Amino acid sequence: MVLIQLTGLSGSGKSTIAFAVRALLQKEGHAVEVIDGDTYRKHLCPDLGFSKQDRNENIRRLGFVAERMTANGVIAIIAAINPYEEIRQEISNYGNHVKTVWINCDLKTLIDRDTKQLYKRALLPDGHPEKINNLTGVSDPFEMPDNADLIIDTHKRSEEECVKQLYNYIMHQLPG
Ligand code: ADX
Repeated sequence: MVLIQLTGLSGSGKSTIAFAVRALLQKEGHAVEVIDGDTYRKHLCPDLGFSKQDRNENIRRLGFVAERMTANGVIAIIAAINPYEEIRQEISNYGNHVKTVWINCDLKTLIDRDTKQLYKRALLPDGHPEKINNLTGVSDPFEMPDNADLIIDTHKRSEEECVKQLYNYIMHQLPG
């Protein structure tokens, strides 16, 4: 079975790619759950914020759910920023079926895309009431993965190509 932990900055394409890959896998008859940071934070982790400790606890819970799913035949894709190497390693320690996929995108492209207007808010002057002070990649750390199993460069490839890349990778991991 396969557990994919994505990692990448907000707006890099994690959710978009994960849900598109899910649709393709479902067409092939596979059971798939996308464990999406935004959704699971609302329902499973509403008590958590964005400190290092809270982000790691968020990933720890998502990892636990993902692992239970894979143990029961579901392909689990964790789509969260997942910025710290230590917790990514902890999730990887569940076993060889865990693969780390870095959804990479340069900051310039993210600032241009800014689908959630988070970058605009992070770049506001200090003291502005709308300012976000701990946005990953701008004012909060993103530790680049040391040994990602796959890197998808969403600023260099089309959405369709990125989806195909993850889909093909997962298909190669499946038994038989
Ligand atoms: S993680 O760091 O704990 O892995 P997660 O993926 O669950 O993060 O949540 C990230 C989402 O929370 C972003 O896509 C964005 O919508 C929202 N968010 C709000 N504040 C921040 C922040 N300071 N840094 C990053 N994301 C934030």
